[in-house]
Amino acid sequence: MQVANITFDRFNALADDQAQSRILAAREKLGPRAVILGHHYQRADVYRHADLTGDSLKLARLASQTDAEFIVFCGVHFMAEVADIMSRPEQIAILPDLAAGCSMADMASLAKVERCWRELRDMTGDPDALITPVTYINSAADLKAFCGEHGGIVCTSSNAASILEWSLARREKVLFFPDQHLGRWTGYKMGIPLDDMVVWDPDLENGGLTREQVAKAKILLWKGHCSVHQMFQPAHILRWRNQHPDGLVISHPESALEVCRQSDYVGSTEYILKTVKAGAPGTKWLVGTELNLVNRLAEEVKHEGKTVQFMAPTVCMCSTMQRIDPQHLAWCLENLAEGQVVNRISVPEHEAVPAKLALDRMLAASP
Ligand code: 13P
Ligand code: SF4
Repeated sequence: MQVANITFDRFNALADDQAQSRILAAREKLGPRAVILGHHYQRADVYRHADLTGDSLKLARLASQTDAEFIVFCGVHFMAEVADIMSRPEQIAILPDLAAGCSMADMASLAKVERCWRELRDMTGDPDALITPVTYINSAADLKAFCGEHGGIVCTSSNAASILEWSLARREKVLFFPDQHLGRWTGYKMGIPLDDMVVWDPDLENGGLTREQVAKAKILLWKGHCSVHQMFQPAHILRWRNQHPDGLVISHPESALEVCRQSDYVGSTEYILKTVKAGAPGTKWLVGTELNLVNRLAEEVKHEGKTVQFMAPTVCMCSTMQRIDPQHLAWCLENLAEGQVVNRISVPEHEAVPAKLALDRMLAASP
């Protein structure tokens, strides 16, 4: 494979329908050599091209199972990294726009987690004997590698409870990063008192905690969150319930604890889709997750008389995932069809090996 020479400039100005037909033509040329994986938050004009769709756990599994030469990931950067780590070395993972990151993943960095571990060493003696580091899959590969190297593990929104059980069976405490909300909700559901889950602020010395607080804590929750899910508020649920006393509320566990507590159902994007689709005809749903998913779901179930409403009054999309547009997808696929790889995501071996260890532990511990 050579370096790319079809530049994106020539695709940027393409009208949407032109981009659509060029995607189809390039796919035709590539045949089974390329597989397109699409996360549920992906915009409709890209999602329709996905061969396989799913939440983060399902997509990680699918990436480890495909035989395609090119795995074109319509999602965000950490998902394409997982695809690269979980696929065979000769397979190539591609992210159509390299700017498609995850603002939550950016809230934890290796430097900050290593500093945290050093401070925990000073406070507790030996964190490697006492604390299991658990990283949400929404994190960079070097953090997954950190977990792999320190007896830790990765989790997703659909297996977090099993992963916390795995972790607490091995060591007394958990350091959970970067999403405090997923960690808190999962711990709460497992019966861990809220007082035993404390927030570690990576911008403060010792996370802003005293030795006594760390000694008493069961879970140290990294101070990170998702900018999309933080928009959902208990007041939105209250208003909905007043208007629709028979309505049902379903939320993603990246939402705040009070939102999850007041929801009828809480789960991953795949779980949300399955649950609403399996709901009785005529049911009314308030959904607390990203807007592209909610809009698509509303369309898919309306023929059964079901209504699906987005939880927040403001528009909140995953703006980074939104960057994967038909123009970028057409650009990647045409380059591949011409024998040129663009936007390859390649995790260096020294990170990929320990990161895979943490991901494999997760797959083995997932239900
Ligand atoms: P899922 O694993 O539920 O798809 O969630 C991924 C994500 O980034 C949600 O914001
Ligand atoms: Fe990251 Fe939030 Fe987007 Fe999910 S919705 S990919 S957590 S920024």
